[in-house]
Amino acid sequence: MEIEQYSLFGDVIHTGYKAVNVASVPQRSLFRYPGGKTWFVPRLREWLKSQIDRPVIFIEPFAGGGIASLTAVCENLVSSALLIELDEDVAAVWEVVTSGDGGWLADRILSFEMNNGNAATVISDNPESLRERAFRTIVKNRCTHGGIMAAGAGLLKKGESGKGVLSRWYPETLARRIKAIHLVHSKLEFKHSDGYGVLDEYKDDKDAVFFIDPPYTAGGKKAGNRLYTHSKVNHELLFQKCSGLSGDFIMTYDNCAEVRDLTVRYGLQAKPIPMKNTHHAEMTELVIGRNLDWMDGINRVLEQQAQYKGAKASET
Ligand SMILES: C[S@@+](CC[C@H](N)C(=O)[O-])C[C@H]1O[C@@H](n2cnc3c(N)ncnc32)[C@H](O)[C@@H]1O
Repeated sequence: MEIEQYSLFGDVIHTGYKAVNVASVPQRSLFRYPGGKTWFVPRLREWLKSQIDRPVIFIEPFAGGGIASLTAVCENLVSSALLIELDEDVAAVWEVVTSGDGGWLADRILSFEMNNGNAATVISDNPESLRERAFRTIVKNRCTHGGIMAAGAGLLKKGESGKGVLSRWYPETLARRIKAIHLVHSKLEFKHSDGYGVLDEYKDDKDAVFFIDPPYTAGGKKAGNRLYTHSKVNHELLFQKCSGLSGDFIMTYDNCAEVRDLTVRYGLQAKPIPMKNTHHAEMTELVIGRNLDWMDGINRVLEQQAQYKGAKASET
């Protein structure tokens, strides 16, 4: 079988027969996000293009690094996007860039001298301003192990090629991404709140589509608990709310018995999608929705595309 397999923060997507470079997907997010969905972007595009009418609003109730919303808006697949995130630190970044204050953040990043001492000072600070909190989040996200946002993640000691905190510090790349987000910021709305409430708010909106990527904690899985400050998910309630939405939606989930059972009970469809996790272990995740006909042919091999010009392959 020809299959696609993805590397979360890696450079190369291996397929059953060919390797496809993940750099062909523009890295638009400001975050290195645990559980980030950059690898899913080709499928996201197919789903959005399969909609009969171009969606008026793309809603991402568990936004994290927000690659889905950014892709949808920057590639004109939807008119606007609403991102929701509960984590206060992650929210600070979104609040700054969606309010049109990205220029300040870009300048702060460009003028910062990154080294162990300065990174530790920024991370241990408790800033009152939203701007400085946003900056601290970026530093923390770039300089701690695996980009893990939950409390207690240590500073990178070795990093790549022994470069420590500099391993993932790409100020120009980040500034360029902030500028790109700024260009579309009027089409982006952010809410620092609970994603469940927004599902209720937009329940009857037929012009809305929803991309739902919750922390993976179903079936007693612990990964979500370790990776995020907010990881409690009532999976049953989420399925219940999603199945009541007027607009189309997809959920991405880990492939476990509890999730498969919820899918059946709520009359939804699920299809496995092969991927590689950060440890290069092969696994499948599930795409869940009302009608997944658009996924027919999912197993075809992606053609290698020209390398994305905006960033080196390793600048994730
Ligand atoms: C799997 S991550 C999303 C990753 C994202 N799709 C990306 O590509 O970067 C799940 C996110 O949901 C957030 N979260 C958890 N519970 C939430 C809630 N009730 N409402 C909003 N966000 C929540 C977590 O803080 C985390 O950032």
